[in-house]
Amino acid sequence: MGRLVCTLATFFGTLALLPLVVSHLNYGFPYGKEKVRGVSLGGWFVIEDFITHSLFDKTNDTRVVDEWTFGQYQDKAVARASLEKHWSTFITKDDFKKIREAGLNHVRIPIGYWAFDLYPGDEFVQGQLPYLLKAVDWAREYDIKIMLVLYGAPGSQNGFINSGHTLNAPGWPQNQTNIDHTTALIKRLVAMFKDKVDVVPIIGVLNEPLGPEGTNYTLTAATKFYIDTYDKVRYPNGKESDKTNLIMMTHDGFMGVDYWAGFLQPPKYQGVILDTHIYYQMFTHEYAAMSFDQHITNACKNASILATSPLPTIIGEWTATATDCGKGLNGRYVGAMYDGTFPGSVRVGSCDGLTGDASTFSEEYKTFLGQYWEAQVQGFERGGLGWTMWNWKMEDVDEWSYQKGLEYGWIPQDPTKGRWPKICEGRW
Ligand SMILES: *[C@@H]1O[C@H](CO)[C@@H](O)[C@H](O)[C@H]1NC(C)=O
Ligand SMILES: *[C@@H]1O[C@H](CO)[C@@H](O)[C@H](O)[C@H]1NC(C)=O
Ligand SMILES: *[C@@H]1O[C@H](CO)[C@@H](O)[C@H](O)[C@H]1NC(C)=O
Ligand SMILES: *[C@@H]1O[C@H](CO)[C@@H](O)[C@H](O)[C@H]1NC(C)=O
Repeated sequence: MGRLVCTLATFFGTLALLPLVVSHLNYGFPYGKEKVRGVSLGGWFVIEDFITHSLFDKTNDTRVVDEWTFGQYQDKAVARASLEKHWSTFITKDDFKKIREAGLNHVRIPIGYWAFDLYPGDEFVQGQLPYLLKAVDWAREYDIKIMLVLYGAPGSQNGFINSGHTLNAPGWPQNQTNIDHTTALIKRLVAMFKDKVDVVPIIGVLNEPLGPEGTNYTLTAATKFYIDTYDKVRYPNGKESDKTNLIMMTHDGFMGVDYWAGFLQPPKYQGVILDTHIYYQMFTHEYAAMSFDQHITNACKNASILATSPLPTIIGEWTATATDCGKGLNGRYVGAMYDGTFPGSVRVGSCDGLTGDASTFSEEYKTFLGQYWEAQVQGFERGGLGWTMWNWKMEDVDEWSYQKGLEYGWIPQDPTKGRWPKICEGRW
């Protein structure tokens, strides 16, 4: 049985990669031949309390829970000074050097629309763009490819903290003005990077469109937006002769990969890839309660699901930990499902020893983090184009940090040379 599944996965994996490989575009990276291995630079241009508590604590204001309120509840000049310091220190050229030394070939850079445009009533503070341009220079110097991903669309496409603006109902999907502004922004990004595909080969046009629960209007709007945006990415001048080599990345809207069967297929559409985020192992009680061993088995099993994806697929977000214990993950001052401090959750166990300072982690936990990391990487590389892990740097939630994983040994110095190459054997 295991053998049969493997064979099928390899067969379908080849099929799924075909559209990208046979297209007549010159991508800035040999996608499908070489695996994408990378990290997110989350928390740099779209700030999150989860990633940098100090930036939020410094405001001394409990109403500050995201980037919007960061600008809203303090003097804009104070906010701006605080952010300038953050942008210039959180990620530097040295990080790009270290990312290269860790054997990685991509960085995922989340960006909000407000780095480019501010609209009346916006509370956001601007000034990110010069740092993004530095990142492009550093990436070129260290031969790292950038996937630039729109995390914050005007009005917010999900109401999540990582869109910059926490909202019960996202303001993007039912507001044509916001959608039009987003289209204009994508055109601008395409103009900026179409001649730099050797450094910025991928533009993620909309991250995690979702909600509110029980509705699907965001998915409907996002689907239309993806279709409409394709031409803007591929033919910015409206001419076949001027087509770009940029890859357009669409997020699966948490529908899973199969949902997108028949979507934006070649030969009409080329250079389209699907982005999926695999965190299911922590955000439902059923999964949160699983043993370390069950988590590892599930990670391996993802390979066969990914291999049948209708579009070449990147696992753009995932992590080595299996709990939501990290302080601030669910929101500033919001608790975790795992220890029952999240409203309405059922306690699985204590978060002690599972989060925070890596020097407090037991050998057993570090072994799990390492095995789980490797099982995921093996599953993703077998079934998909590759992966970018969330997140390169964390101020104090070490179980989510690629850097800490390298330092404490649960992530190998060379991502192709792990300690448990057979961890998925018998589990595919
Ligand atoms: C923080 O805010 C509280 C309540 O508004 C205030 O009493 C306190 O002095 C502030 N601390 C600093 C360091 O500004
Ligand atoms: C659309 O969103 C903008 C702000 O993003 C807001 O000013 C405007 O009122 C919204 N329009 C509608 C019809 O809701
Ligand atoms: C949204 O839900 C409606 C009603 O169930 C359905 O007809 C429609 O196909 C759904 N749209 C999408 C994009 O899934
Ligand atoms: C990964 O596996 C989980 C659990 O079986 C499933 O919910 C999820 O949809 C899978 N995702 C992908 C992309 O394979």
